[in-house]
Amino acid sequence: RKPVTVSKLAQMRHDRQPIVMVTAYDYPSAQIVDAAGVDVVLVGDSGAMTVLGYPSTVPVSLDEMLMLTKAVRRGLTTPLMVGDLPFGSYEVSDEQAVQTAMRFVKEGGCDVVKLEGGGQSAERARAIVRAGIPVMGHVGLTPQTATALGGFRAQGVTAESAREVLADALRLQDAGCFAIVFEAVPAEVTDVILRQLHIPVIGIGAGPGTDGQVLVYHDLLGIFDGFKPKFAKRWGELRKTMIEATSHYVNEVRVRAFPGPEHCYGIKPAEFERFTA
Ligand code: KIV
Ligand code: NA
Repeated sequence: RKPVTVSKLAQMRHDRQPIVMVTAYDYPSAQIVDAAGVDVVLVGDSGAMTVLGYPSTVPVSLDEMLMLTKAVRRGLTTPLMVGDLPFGSYEVSDEQAVQTAMRFVKEGGCDVVKLEGGGQSAERARAIVRAGIPVMGHVGLTPQTATALGGFRAQGVTAESAREVLADALRLQDAGCFAIVFEAVPAEVTDVILRQLHIPVIGIGAGPGTDGQVLVYHDLLGIFDGFKPKFAKRWGELRKTMIEATSHYVNEVRVRAFPGPEHCYGIKPAEFERFTA
């Protein structure tokens, strides 16, 4: 397989070939999504919750995100790798945004970065694009600012709110973003907005009309124990499988069924005799 590029994604949109994106947060998850053949891998700040155990994406630091990003880089071959700029690492100024994006590329090994929101964030996106780093936008439900949006709820469910999602998407497109994530937006609203965009839209809870889909790794595999959003479909129940396997280990140690002879090292009888003599 050839490395996935930003222009490849534009071509896929043109060819109406769905773009598959998923999150990853460490070396094994990166290797697994890579082997499954996904097009785009997002080192999402959702990792704040799924692998670091924070109650939201707000507290995760830039250094923590960079650590996850470096691990993912080591596990990926061909997918396009997107670094998710964490809350507080890009809002203050264009300079801050560019500096943060640079760290994701130079230290984290990301191909591109993603940021949330379409107001001031569109200007931050423009600055990062000018600095030579492609930017993915993110509109609708933006978890970093969920408190200001009135909680974790669908966006664009009133005419005014739908117009805001449209305006944000247009600003991001105008700022030079190469793609936009639409999160938790009614499918009909998404479809109307799509007609005004010429860049790929990757949906999560935005209906079937988008140019691609993105899901959180732990959600699709059934590993995460927390809140399950409406858009999260599970293709596995790995949490259950992992607890079962670990419980078997616990039991076998307790009843002395593990380790068996096949897990033990040997010593030649003559050596053993010399040792015990
Ligand atoms: O952090 C994340 O996982 C995301 C996706 C849900 C788009 O931003
Ligand atoms: Na995110």
